[in-house]
Amino acid sequence: MTSWFPQPAASEITPPQVFAQRRRLLQQMAAGAAGASLATWAARDALAAATPAADKLAALPGVPSKVPGAQVQATPTPYADASSYNNFYEFGYDKQDPARYAGAMPTRPWTVRVEGLVQKPGVWALEDLLKLSPMEERLYRLRCVEGWSMVIPWEGYSLSRLLERVQPLGSAKFVEFVTQTDAQHMPGLRHGGLDWPYTEGLRLDEAMHPLTLLAFGMYGHVLPNQNGAPVRLVVPWKYGFKSAKSVVAIRVLEQMPTTAWVKAAPHEYGFYANVNPNVPHRRWSQASERTIGQGGLFAPKRKTELFNGYAEQVGQLYAGMDLKRYY
Ligand code: MTE
Repeated sequence: MTSWFPQPAASEITPPQVFAQRRRLLQQMAAGAAGASLATWAARDALAAATPAADKLAALPGVPSKVPGAQVQATPTPYADASSYNNFYEFGYDKQDPARYAGAMPTRPWTVRVEGLVQKPGVWALEDLLKLSPMEERLYRLRCVEGWSMVIPWEGYSLSRLLERVQPLGSAKFVEFVTQTDAQHMPGLRHGGLDWPYTEGLRLDEAMHPLTLLAFGMYGHVLPNQNGAPVRLVVPWKYGFKSAKSVVAIRVLEQMPTTAWVKAAPHEYGFYANVNPNVPHRRWSQASERTIGQGGLFAPKRKTELFNGYAEQVGQLYAGMDLKRYY
């Protein structure tokens, strides 16, 4: 990848023990891409059965969204699967770790700092964010780089509502998302792996696209902690890792930020991370996916679609760009 910013090799900037943990994390991702083992699947089923149902959490209904593309024509993944098979590395490497450990993380009080190149920087209390715009329900497919996907009814509103409020300056080009680091409640932080906090980024026009969702709930209830409570991003046309969970700060910038995954493995993870079956990951194909909760390990895979099926809505953002180069 030709990056727009200087990029030392990860080994040059990282202490050896953290570098070793990072390799383990990347191997774990590769194992996910190779397909979950039967043992993992069985453990997931047991955890799904033990995970509290959505109706144990506060209700957060939304009106069906009218944003074009906000409703995929697909059956939602069962809640038990969507809340027990997660990536949230701050809680550990295993898919079950977030459901096991995230419940202890306090999510109230919670604030989100909005800063950088904006007319109106400030600290938003969660309660004020919840009131900023009517809650919409959107059925989005989330495609993970590991080769699986889920279809989830999210409750939230377009991130653009918040960005419009804080008024980005003319020089603003990118938005960075910074997520929670709570050493007391996040056992994964002790293992290294990524350069915490987990950060992600979007170009400003991507962040302003109506499909980019600031999500507070799923399945009509507030988010369970393992899915990124109390507030997360969902960018449905990009690989799941762009959808930063448990966001604590949003920074509007002029320069492209270096995201946690780009820092960890710049040759494997790019800034754009648009779902694209024609651009393989360095170590595996991205042409098909297994839909979690539909038919188990032996169900036929579905073909992955360009921009995860949202090409009509977002293709224009990348007109003229070489998607193999800007992956
Ligand atoms: N956000 C944080 N803070 N930490 C993470 O490890 N994992 C990402 C993304 N957001 C992650 C994160 C990855 S790799 C994926 S696939 C999605 O969250 C998974 O979201 P889900 O658990 O709701 O399916």
